[in-house]
Amino acid sequence: MAKEKAKIKSDSDVDMSAVDSDNAAISDDVESFRDAADLEIKDIEGIGPTTAKKLKEAGIVSVLELAVTSADQLALDIECSKDTAATYIMESQRLLRKSQVLEKEFVSANLLLEKRKAMLRCSTGSKSLDELLLGGLETQAVTEFYGEFGSGKSQVCFTLCAMAKQPISEGGLDGGVIYIDTEGTFRPERLNQIARARGFDPLLVLKNVAICKVYNSSHLELIIEDLGRYVSAFNAKLVIIDSIISLHRAEYLGRGTLADRQQRLNAILHKLIRLAEIFNIAVVITNQVQSSPDMFFGDPTKATGGNIIAHTSTYRIYLRKSGENRIAKMVDSPYHPYSDIRFTVNEKGIDDTEETPKAKNKK
Ligand SMILES: Nc1ncnc2c1ncn2[C@@H]1O[C@H](COP(=O)(O)OP(=O)(O)OP(=O)(O)O)[C@@H](O)[C@H]1O
Ligand SMILES: [Mg+2]
Repeated sequence: MAKEKAKIKSDSDVDMSAVDSDNAAISDDVESFRDAADLEIKDIEGIGPTTAKKLKEAGIVSVLELAVTSADQLALDIECSKDTAATYIMESQRLLRKSQVLEKEFVSANLLLEKRKAMLRCSTGSKSLDELLLGGLETQAVTEFYGEFGSGKSQVCFTLCAMAKQPISEGGLDGGVIYIDTEGTFRPERLNQIARARGFDPLLVLKNVAICKVYNSSHLELIIEDLGRYVSAFNAKLVIIDSIISLHRAEYLGRGTLADRQQRLNAILHKLIRLAEIFNIAVVITNQVQSSPDMFFGDPTKATGGNIIAHTSTYRIYLRKSGENRIAKMVDSPYHPYSDIRFTVNEKGIDDTEETPKAKNKK
């Protein structure tokens, strides 16, 4: 184990040295997440070269990926019994725990606080929206932006693509972005414009975003299944799925298919939240709204996807148009006050309005 650590340390010394001293504490913690990504399958007890090869063929190349796989899926993927698959998963989780990567099943609040310290925040490009998020988009969390068409969901995502590349000291994540486009609305020209307007090198920003256009819900499930591998490969610190539900919503029509659809969405969302925690990455999903005609007061729209998305997203932000501007409202959060703010959409992507009013606390 010690030897392993030493090897990993020397590999990661190079990029960590660039982080400024103010962030030294944070970067130490981040390094422990990197170590996790570098643990090898062959270090898992009970897994020999043959099984390692089968796992590799099934697209599982890191201990983390094995640890977050379901026994049913793994048994199918490597053609073994469910019991054997469960043992492999358990052993991989044991190794992660031994390397102090995953919290044990129960952790004390102060240890949890230590882990939260490794959390990074990415500026959204709007100070008001950052304020609503208490300092920016968090890693180790799934943040959902929902709203009707034209409310600015994709514009938030594009702006985040430009911000994530920036150094941590300047509000970025100093990392890559994976953009999963289910609606075919990603526009490199728009990202180019945003980067330019913000004074960033557009080429560096564009090169930093790996786009995956997905065509149907099975394709999306397949990509999410392998996401851990892509996160490592692209050194991604931000994963965006714009949008999470459109494909499933279009394909699973009628009430009879609802349970199946929800189960599939559930699997995707749980994988996302676990990846966010394990890799210390920020995950952003966008979601549509449906009208709820039974509502007489207030805004008669609510997010689609029902309880599954509502319960899995760590933070939910409702976006809506208000004249030329947009209003963002924190709808669901374990610790943010319920408040709303205004922002605008311009050549910089999303931006503060002229007057930049402070977040208006409702609680
Ligand atoms: N370059 C720009 N300058 C100013 N405003 C822009 C620019 N590009 C886009 N917009 C604004 O952003 C809106 C589109 O927002 P966006 O694409 O984020 O919507 P969305 O919430 O993702 O909608 P959908 O549900 O259809 O995907 C446009 O209607 C326009 O008002
Ligand atoms: Mg959109």
